[in-house]
Amino acid sequence: MKHVTKAVLPVAGLGTRFLPATKSIPKEMMPIVDTPLVEYAVREAIEAGVKEIIFITSPTKKAIEAHFSKNQELENLLKKSNKESCISKAFPKEFDEITFHYAYQYEQLGLGHAVLQANHLIDQDEFFLILLADDLLINEPNVCKQLVEAHHKTSSSILALNKVSTEETKKYGVISFKDKASDISNCKPLSAIVEKPQTNPPSNIAVTGRYLLKGSIFNYLKNIKEGAQGELQLTDAINLAMQDNNFFGIEYEGIKFDCGSKEGFIRANLHVAKTQKINYE
Ligand code: G1P
Repeated sequence: MKHVTKAVLPVAGLGTRFLPATKSIPKEMMPIVDTPLVEYAVREAIEAGVKEIIFITSPTKKAIEAHFSKNQELENLLKKSNKESCISKAFPKEFDEITFHYAYQYEQLGLGHAVLQANHLIDQDEFFLILLADDLLINEPNVCKQLVEAHHKTSSSILALNKVSTEETKKYGVISFKDKASDISNCKPLSAIVEKPQTNPPSNIAVTGRYLLKGSIFNYLKNIKEGAQGELQLTDAINLAMQDNNFFGIEYEGIKFDCGSKEGFIRANLHVAKTQKINYE
């Protein structure tokens, strides 16, 4: 089976919930302790075997591009001032082998529309990852690795799932399972998904911001209409694709922080500060 080597990270949002900080700093560049939120997702994808990161971004968010580019001037300055140890922080070796692509989303028409901007970079029969950086997921093995492993078992598209309370289902994509008899180890076949159900959720199992999808999803993304919140929803394209393709879900192992909310962002900072050895110098 082919390796999964590409990951799409939609990062074009305005980050209005974090104003005024996000007036000049992209939301995704705000740090969890000392590392921008988006770098956690990028590292997760790289650890899972990804070689090409495709950011769906906005031309106004150049800080993200600067962060993932070499800066020879800074590197030289660090060398000159004997701060060699800082170099690996600013320019991790792992990034040398990665190609970073930037595709622009000029209008905020929803997650489905954002992902569609990667169409030209992914083949129809190629499987790829999508990571929503706002969901910071901490585990060893990480959640992208868990998706890749599930893909190897099923040769299918995989969604990362977690249980939520019934009141919370209206915030997420919520799934229905197929007959339990067709489980493949911990991978459960899915029959449908609905975005942010306001009433009668089909279950209390929601999708977290990690997906492993087939490139043919772009055909469905081209045909969806405005859905929940008047936006073009990735969930609606997945639901259409489910009628023609096998999809499985895994209830992933890991701790989740919703860094799209202030509470989740602060909790994530506290967690990382407590659990990682931090040099406070
Ligand atoms: C998006 C997806 C939703 C998914 C969620 C996970 O929603 O549309 O299906 O459950 O991410 O975080 P958003 O958080 O952008 O409203």
